[in-house]
Amino acid sequence: MLKSLFVTGTDTDVGKTYITVGLGVVIRKMGIDVGVMKPFAAGRAQKKGYKSKDIVMISKAVQACDPENLINPQFFPIPASPYTAWKNLKTKPRISTILSSFKKLSNLHDMILVEGMGGIMTPILKDYYVTNLIKEMKIPAVIVTRSKIGTVNHTIMTVKMCNIYKIPIKGIIINDFDSDGYKIKELTRDFKSLTNVPVLGSIPFIHNFTNASLYKIFKKNINFKLLLK
Ligand SMILES: Nc1ncnc2c1ncn2[C@@H]1O[C@H](COP(=O)(O)OP(=O)(O)O)[C@@H](O)[C@H]1O
Ligand SMILES: [Mg+2]
Repeated sequence: MLKSLFVTGTDTDVGKTYITVGLGVVIRKMGIDVGVMKPFAAGRAQKKGYKSKDIVMISKAVQACDPENLINPQFFPIPASPYTAWKNLKTKPRISTILSSFKKLSNLHDMILVEGMGGIMTPILKDYYVTNLIKEMKIPAVIVTRSKIGTVNHTIMTVKMCNIYKIPIKGIIINDFDSDGYKIKELTRDFKSLTNVPVLGSIPFIHNFTNASLYKIFKKNINFKLLLK
């Protein structure tokens, strides 16, 4: 049984979905039966299929067609943290449902790529954050970060919170889609020495969002040996 992975990020919109898609495409091509999950999703509901756009994208990447109640147990039709959605919509996030869905999905696949919500301290309940959820799911985290100036601060904060919650970190993936960011070589050097976390690679701006093109880009740029170790 391979370890499942929780793909978190330094913020919302850093590329968690894009990176999960790319990782999923390559892992599937390796002959691994990889499933996907997004415990909570929020935003405008898609007209057909899964409500969450993220789920539509990541499930397509690995060709998973698991039932929505497993792959995305809770959907909030407003763009907000689960905590804020709860307060606004009066629908309480149900952690036990997430954990049981994750367990069921884990039995259906070799491993699960779980896309997180927002960043590491996105609140789900009072005093219960994404960190608490990862901890209860008992899986390591992958941190997606960007190359834009400001990323060093966000990355250190994310790593430190994982350390506080004793969440193992598989590595950092730099989503280098900002044209005016740090040079990747320098950023990789500094992340390594500042955080002691391995940098698994960096992904350039993706122009061609097809599985074939994603396969090439991710296979070439990400250290899958380390990721799946
Ligand atoms: N490597 C990339 N190349 C091109 N565009 C990207 C890349 N990564 C992210 N984006 C853009 O940024 C947006 C946010 O990325 P997404 O993966 O949805 O972030 P998150 O899941 O962390 O909220 C995407 O919709 C896309 O437009
Ligand atoms: Mg996303």
